[in-house]
Amino acid sequence: MSESIVRAENISRFFQDKKRGIVRAVDSLSFEVKPGEIFAILGPNGAGKTTTLRVLSTILRPTYGVAYVNGYNILEKPDKVRQSIGYLPSESGLYHRLTPHEVISLFGRLSGLKGNTLKRRVDELVESLGMQEFAHTRIEKLSTGMKQKVKVARTIVHDPPILILDEPTQGLDVPSSQIVEKFIKEERDKGKAIILSTHIMEEAEYLADRILVIHKGRKRAEGTMEELRKMTGRTRLKEVFLQLIKEDGA
Ligand SMILES: Nc1ncnc2c1ncn2[C@@H]1O[C@H](COP(=O)(O)OP(=O)(O)O)[C@@H](O)[C@H]1O
Ligand SMILES: [Mg+2]
Repeated sequence: MSESIVRAENISRFFQDKKRGIVRAVDSLSFEVKPGEIFAILGPNGAGKTTTLRVLSTILRPTYGVAYVNGYNILEKPDKVRQSIGYLPSESGLYHRLTPHEVISLFGRLSGLKGNTLKRRVDELVESLGMQEFAHTRIEKLSTGMKQKVKVARTIVHDPPILILDEPTQGLDVPSSQIVEKFIKEERDKGKAIILSTHIMEEAEYLADRILVIHKGRKRAEGTMEELRKMTGRTRLKEVFLQLIKEDGA
Protein backbone atom coordinates (compact mmCIF):
# COMPACT_ATOMS: atom_id res chain seq x y z
CA MET A 1 0.00 0.00 0.00
CA SER A 2 1.58 3.29 -1.03
CA GLU A 3 1.62 6.38 1.13
CA SER A 4 -0.84 9.21 0.76
CA ILE A 5 0.45 12.20 -1.17
CA VAL A 6 -2.39 14.48 -0.05
CA ARG A 7 -3.80 14.47 3.45
CA ALA A 8 -6.45 16.89 4.71
CA GLU A 9 -6.97 16.96 8.46
CA ASN A 10 -10.23 18.51 9.60
CA ILE A 11 -10.05 21.44 7.24
CA SER A 12 -12.71 24.10 7.70
CA ARG A 13 -13.26 27.37 5.95
CA PHE A 14 -15.88 29.81 7.15
CA PHE A 15 -16.94 33.03 5.46
CA GLN A 16 -18.56 36.07 6.96
CA ASP A 17 -21.45 36.94 4.67
CA LYS A 18 -23.42 40.17 5.04
CA LYS A 19 -26.80 38.54 4.48
CA ARG A 20 -26.28 35.00 5.68
CA GLY A 21 -23.95 35.58 8.63
CA ILE A 22 -21.25 32.94 9.11
CA VAL A 23 -21.21 30.48 6.22
CA ARG A 24 -19.54 27.18 6.97
CA ALA A 25 -18.45 26.53 3.39
CA VAL A 26 -16.18 23.67 4.46
CA ASP A 27 -16.72 22.10 7.83
CA SER A 28 -14.11 19.74 9.23
CA LEU A 29 -13.26 17.63 6.19
CA SER A 30 -10.61 14.92 6.34
CA PHE A 31 -9.44 12.73 3.49
CA GLU A 32 -6.36 11.19 1.94
CA VAL A 33 -5.34 10.64 -1.66
CA LYS A 34 -2.64 8.31 -2.94
CA PRO A 35 -0.47 8.49 -6.06
CA GLY A 36 -2.14 6.74 -8.99
CA GLU A 37 -5.61 7.51 -7.72
CA ILE A 38 -8.48 9.67 -8.97
CA PHE A 39 -10.36 11.08 -6.01
CA ALA A 40 -13.63 12.85 -6.76
CA ILE A 41 -15.28 15.35 -4.46
CA LEU A 42 -18.95 15.12 -5.33
CA GLY A 43 -21.64 17.46 -4.10
CA PRO A 44 -24.45 19.72 -5.27
CA ASN A 45 -23.88 23.42 -6.00
CA GLY A 46 -22.72 25.25 -2.90
CA ALA A 47 -21.54 22.05 -1.19
CA GLY A 48 -18.04 23.44 -0.62
CA LYS A 49 -16.10 21.74 -3.44
CA THR A 50 -14.40 24.84 -4.83
CA THR A 51 -13.56 26.11 -1.36
CA THR A 52 -11.96 22.76 -0.46
CA LEU A 53 -9.83 22.78 -3.62
CA ARG A 54 -8.82 26.41 -3.06
CA VAL A 55 -7.67 25.58 0.46
CA LEU A 56 -5.58 22.65 -0.84
CA SER A 57 -4.10 24.90 -3.52
CA THR A 58 -3.11 27.51 -0.90
CA ILE A 59 -5.32 30.19 -2.45
CA LEU A 60 -7.42 30.32 0.73
CA ARG A 61 -6.22 29.71 4.27
CA PRO A 62 -8.33 27.27 6.24
CA THR A 63 -10.17 28.71 9.24
CA TYR A 64 -9.25 25.53 11.11
CA GLY A 65 -7.32 22.40 10.27
CA VAL A 66 -4.35 21.66 8.08
CA ALA A 67 -3.45 19.72 4.96
CA TYR A 68 -0.24 18.18 3.68
CA VAL A 69 0.36 18.21 -0.04
CA ASN A 70 3.35 16.26 -1.36
CA GLY A 71 4.55 16.21 2.24
CA TYR A 72 4.36 19.99 2.64
CA ASN A 73 2.19 21.73 5.18
CA ILE A 74 -0.11 24.13 3.28
CA LEU A 75 0.25 26.74 6.03
CA GLU A 76 4.01 26.59 6.37
CA LYS A 77 5.24 25.77 2.86
CA PRO A 78 2.72 27.23 0.40
CA ASP A 79 5.41 27.78 -2.29
CA LYS A 80 6.44 24.13 -2.16
CA VAL A 81 2.79 23.11 -2.33
CA ARG A 82 2.24 25.26 -5.41
CA GLN A 83 5.25 23.71 -7.16
CA SER A 84 3.83 20.26 -6.46
CA ILE A 85 0.40 20.83 -7.95
CA GLY A 86 -1.35 21.73 -11.14
CA TYR A 87 -4.52 23.61 -10.26
CA LEU A 88 -7.36 24.10 -12.70
CA PRO A 89 -9.80 26.67 -11.29
CA SER A 90 -13.44 26.42 -12.26
CA GLU A 91 -13.45 29.91 -13.68
CA SER A 92 -10.34 31.26 -15.29
CA GLY A 93 -9.49 33.29 -18.34
CA LEU A 94 -7.02 32.95 -21.16
CA TYR A 95 -5.19 35.64 -23.09
CA HIS A 96 -7.39 36.01 -26.15
CA ARG A 97 -4.68 37.33 -28.40
CA LEU A 98 -2.37 34.36 -27.96
CA THR A 99 -2.60 30.92 -29.56
CA PRO A 100 -2.83 27.68 -27.54
CA HIS A 101 0.74 26.89 -28.51
CA GLU A 102 1.90 30.25 -27.18
CA VAL A 103 -0.06 29.97 -23.93
CA ILE A 104 1.24 26.50 -23.12
CA SER A 105 4.80 27.52 -24.02
CA LEU A 106 4.52 30.63 -21.87
CA PHE A 107 3.37 28.66 -18.83
CA GLY A 108 6.06 26.05 -19.47
CA ARG A 109 8.72 28.76 -19.55
CA LEU A 110 7.36 30.35 -16.36
CA SER A 111 7.72 27.00 -14.62
CA GLY A 112 11.34 26.67 -15.74
CA LEU A 113 11.18 24.58 -18.92
CA LYS A 114 13.24 25.68 -21.91
CA GLY A 115 14.74 24.71 -25.26
CA ASN A 116 13.99 21.26 -26.62
CA THR A 117 12.46 20.03 -23.36
CA LEU A 118 9.88 22.80 -23.53
CA LYS A 119 9.21 22.19 -27.20
CA ARG A 120 8.77 18.45 -26.70
CA ARG A 121 6.45 18.96 -23.75
CA VAL A 122 4.24 21.42 -25.62
CA ASP A 123 4.03 19.12 -28.66
CA GLU A 124 3.18 16.17 -26.42
CA LEU A 125 0.32 18.06 -24.77
CA VAL A 126 -1.03 19.38 -28.06
CA GLU A 127 -1.18 15.82 -29.31
CA SER A 128 -2.55 14.06 -26.24
CA LEU A 129 -5.34 16.59 -25.81
CA GLY A 130 -6.18 16.58 -29.53
CA MET A 131 -5.34 20.25 -30.12
CA GLN A 132 -3.35 19.87 -33.38
CA GLU A 133 -5.95 21.56 -35.55
CA PHE A 134 -6.18 24.75 -33.50
CA ALA A 135 -2.80 24.96 -31.77
CA HIS A 136 -1.89 28.02 -33.84
CA THR A 137 -5.29 29.72 -33.90
CA ARG A 138 -5.90 32.72 -31.66
CA ILE A 139 -7.81 31.81 -28.51
CA GLU A 140 -10.54 34.38 -29.19
CA LYS A 141 -11.65 32.18 -32.11
CA LEU A 142 -11.89 28.93 -30.15
CA SER A 143 -14.93 27.08 -28.77
CA THR A 144 -15.48 26.49 -25.04
CA GLY A 145 -14.25 22.90 -25.35
CA MET A 146 -11.08 23.96 -27.16
CA LYS A 147 -10.38 26.60 -24.52
CA GLN A 148 -10.86 24.09 -21.71
CA LYS A 149 -8.26 21.82 -23.28
CA VAL A 150 -5.82 24.75 -23.36
CA LYS A 151 -6.50 25.39 -19.67
CA VAL A 152 -5.91 21.74 -18.83
CA ALA A 153 -2.64 21.76 -20.78
CA ARG A 154 -1.51 24.96 -19.07
CA THR A 155 -2.31 23.42 -15.66
CA ILE A 156 -0.07 20.42 -16.11
CA VAL A 157 2.71 21.64 -18.39
CA HIS A 158 5.28 21.41 -15.55
CA ASP A 159 4.33 17.76 -14.95
CA PRO A 160 3.40 18.05 -11.25
CA PRO A 161 2.73 14.88 -9.22
CA ILE A 162 -0.66 16.18 -8.05
CA LEU A 163 -3.52 17.59 -10.13
CA ILE A 164 -6.35 19.56 -8.54
CA LEU A 165 -9.12 20.02 -11.09
CA ASP A 166 -12.27 22.00 -10.30
CA GLU A 167 -15.10 20.65 -12.49
CA PRO A 168 -12.73 19.84 -15.36
CA THR A 169 -15.42 18.89 -17.88
CA GLN A 170 -17.88 21.65 -17.00
CA GLY A 171 -19.43 23.14 -20.12
CA LEU A 172 -17.88 20.63 -22.49
CA ASP A 173 -19.75 18.71 -25.16
CA VAL A 174 -19.52 14.92 -25.16
CA PRO A 175 -16.53 14.52 -27.52
CA SER A 176 -14.46 17.15 -25.70
CA SER A 177 -15.29 15.86 -22.26
CA GLN A 178 -14.34 12.38 -23.40
CA ILE A 179 -10.90 13.58 -24.47
CA VAL A 180 -10.38 15.40 -21.18
CA GLU A 181 -11.58 12.37 -19.19
CA LYS A 182 -9.29 10.04 -21.11
CA PHE A 183 -6.42 12.41 -20.50
CA ILE A 184 -7.15 12.49 -16.74
CA LYS A 185 -7.12 8.69 -16.63
CA GLU A 186 -3.82 8.56 -18.51
CA GLU A 187 -2.28 10.95 -15.99
CA ARG A 188 -3.58 8.73 -13.19
CA ASP A 189 -2.05 5.69 -14.89
CA LYS A 190 1.30 7.52 -14.96
CA GLY A 191 1.08 7.61 -11.16
CA LYS A 192 -0.30 11.07 -10.50
CA ALA A 193 -2.72 11.80 -7.73
CA ILE A 194 -5.79 13.54 -9.08
CA ILE A 195 -8.37 15.37 -7.02
CA LEU A 196 -11.31 16.64 -8.97
CA SER A 197 -14.68 18.07 -8.14
CA THR A 198 -17.97 17.39 -9.87
CA HIS A 199 -21.67 17.72 -9.25
CA ILE A 200 -22.41 14.92 -11.70
CA MET A 201 -22.57 11.43 -10.28
CA GLU A 202 -22.09 9.78 -13.69
CA GLU A 203 -18.80 11.58 -14.05
CA ALA A 204 -17.67 10.53 -10.58
CA GLU A 205 -18.62 6.94 -11.39
CA TYR A 206 -16.81 6.97 -14.71
CA LEU A 207 -13.63 8.68 -13.54
CA ALA A 208 -13.07 8.20 -9.87
CA ASP A 209 -11.40 5.42 -7.94
CA ARG A 210 -12.86 6.84 -4.75
CA ILE A 211 -15.58 9.40 -4.12
CA LEU A 212 -16.08 11.81 -1.24
CA VAL A 213 -19.66 13.01 -1.07
CA ILE A 214 -20.08 16.39 0.63
CA HIS A 215 -23.08 18.55 1.36
CA LYS A 216 -23.14 21.92 3.14
CA GLY A 217 -19.42 21.62 3.76
CA ARG A 218 -19.62 18.29 5.53
CA LYS A 219 -18.66 14.77 4.63
CA ARG A 220 -21.69 12.60 3.92
CA ALA A 221 -19.97 9.46 2.64
CA GLU A 222 -16.73 8.19 1.20
CA GLY A 223 -15.88 5.12 -0.82
CA THR A 224 -15.91 3.46 -4.20
CA MET A 225 -19.07 3.72 -6.28
CA GLU A 226 -19.85 0.16 -5.33
CA GLU A 227 -19.47 0.93 -1.65
CA LEU A 228 -21.74 3.97 -1.99
CA ARG A 229 -24.35 1.79 -3.69
CA LYS A 230 -24.16 -0.71 -0.85
CA MET A 231 -24.37 2.03 1.79
CA THR A 232 -27.59 3.36 0.34
CA GLY A 233 -29.12 0.14 -0.93
CA ARG A 234 -29.82 1.92 -4.22
CA THR A 235 -28.51 1.17 -7.68
CA ARG A 236 -29.62 4.13 -9.80
CA LEU A 237 -26.97 6.85 -9.57
CA LYS A 238 -29.41 9.67 -8.95
CA GLU A 239 -31.04 7.81 -6.10
CA VAL A 240 -27.70 6.93 -4.53
CA PHE A 241 -26.74 10.61 -4.65
CA LEU A 242 -30.05 11.90 -3.30
CA GLN A 243 -29.97 9.34 -0.53
CA LEU A 244 -26.47 10.41 0.47
CA ILE A 245 -27.22 14.13 0.66
CA LYS A 246 -30.62 13.73 2.27
CA GLU A 247 -31.08 15.72 5.47
CA ASP A 248 -31.22 13.59 8.58
CA GLY A 249 -34.78 12.71 9.38
CA ALA A 250 -36.03 14.04 6.04
N1 LIG B 1 -15.97 34.48 -0.60
C1 LIG B 1 -17.12 34.00 -0.12
N2 LIG B 1 -17.89 34.73 0.72
C2 LIG B 1 -19.05 34.24 1.22
N3 LIG B 1 -19.51 33.01 0.98
C3 LIG B 1 -18.78 32.22 0.14
C4 LIG B 1 -17.55 32.67 -0.44
N4 LIG B 1 -17.06 31.66 -1.22
C5 LIG B 1 -17.94 30.65 -1.12
N5 LIG B 1 -18.96 30.97 -0.30
C6 LIG B 1 -20.10 30.11 0.06
O1 LIG B 1 -19.60 28.88 0.50
C7 LIG B 1 -20.42 27.80 0.10
C8 LIG B 1 -19.62 26.80 -0.70
O2 LIG B 1 -19.23 27.38 -1.94
P1 LIG B 1 -18.33 26.61 -3.00
O3 LIG B 1 -17.13 26.07 -2.31
O4 LIG B 1 -18.11 27.52 -4.14
O5 LIG B 1 -19.30 25.40 -3.41
P2 LIG B 1 -19.29 24.44 -4.70
O6 LIG B 1 -17.98 24.61 -5.40
O7 LIG B 1 -19.48 23.06 -4.14
O8 LIG B 1 -20.47 24.83 -5.54
C9 LIG B 1 -21.57 28.44 -0.67
O9 LIG B 1 -22.63 28.63 0.24
C10 LIG B 1 -20.99 29.76 -1.11
O10 LIG B 1 -22.01 30.72 -1.30
MG1 LIG C 1 -17.55 25.09 -7.40
